[in-house]
Amino acid sequence: MRPLARHNRRPRGHRGRCLRREGRQLSQQVLSERLERVAAQVPANARLADIGSDHGYLPVALVNRGVIATAVAGEAALTPYRAAQRSVREHGLEQRISVRLADGLAAIEAGDGITAVSLCGMGGETIRDILECGKARLSGEERLILQPNGGEQPLRHWLMYNGYCIVHEEVLRENRFFYEIIVAEPSGPLSYTTGQLYFGPLQLQERSPAFLAKWQRLLRLKQRTLANLAQARQPVPEAKAQALEQQVRWIADLLAGEPGSAD
Ligand SMILES: C[S@@+](CC[C@H](N)C(=O)[O-])C[C@H]1O[C@@H](n2cnc3c(N)ncnc32)[C@H](O)[C@@H]1O
Repeated sequence: MRPLARHNRRPRGHRGRCLRREGRQLSQQVLSERLERVAAQVPANARLADIGSDHGYLPVALVNRGVIATAVAGEAALTPYRAAQRSVREHGLEQRISVRLADGLAAIEAGDGITAVSLCGMGGETIRDILECGKARLSGEERLILQPNGGEQPLRHWLMYNGYCIVHEEVLRENRFFYEIIVAEPSGPLSYTTGQLYFGPLQLQERSPAFLAKWQRLLRLKQRTLANLAQARQPVPEAKAQALEQQVRWIADLLAGEPGSAD
């Protein structure tokens, strides 16, 4: 899990508490570029459950802006749960945002009538596990707005096997980091190719500059890892080296604009 400071850094200064308080209010209204792009995917008037909400910046900003009327902010850990409670209290939104200490989708209650669920800033496998463990809490009507930090491929697998169509995808670069946003809606059975699951079906079509830059960087990293494996003193499991070689081929083909060997 990446530290929050990387995503939504507060201004620091010698004015101490006062500036920290200003910083907190600024963070809740002026979201980081990453959370701003997530916010853009929340439909107007949605009933949002933001799971893993941390300080609750996303629901607080959306309710303050009048985009949504109510929200649930779910947190599994006590310190961020208290931070979310504090944000909500400072904005006088206690009647609009329910902050709940709960594991994953257990934060959602039947009467909430949730129409959108956001899970952001966690690993893709963690998001997948939260969705899988809590799928009984989903009505099957919700838009899922997901911002995984890595692990996008297993997350797309889950979406496919559970009948969610990916309706929007983007890669963005903020500071030195690349982030993906995946938005999915219930659709019934569908199938994606290996390449679509690995790179993202819509991103494969769009090939945005940020998407290509992300894969250029990953190609360099994976090539370096392969070279290190070749020189490793301990024997490396054959399957691990083969999987890595295969990924390097897929990415190199993608960047060369060749028909995907992943398909
Ligand atoms: C890095 S923070 C991201 C915060 C915010 N969503 C964002 O994108 O800026 C991840 C948060 O998810 C919470 N979290 C992790 N696993 C969780 C789970 N199973 N249920 C609820 N919250 C969880 C962590 O406690 C942490 O506050």
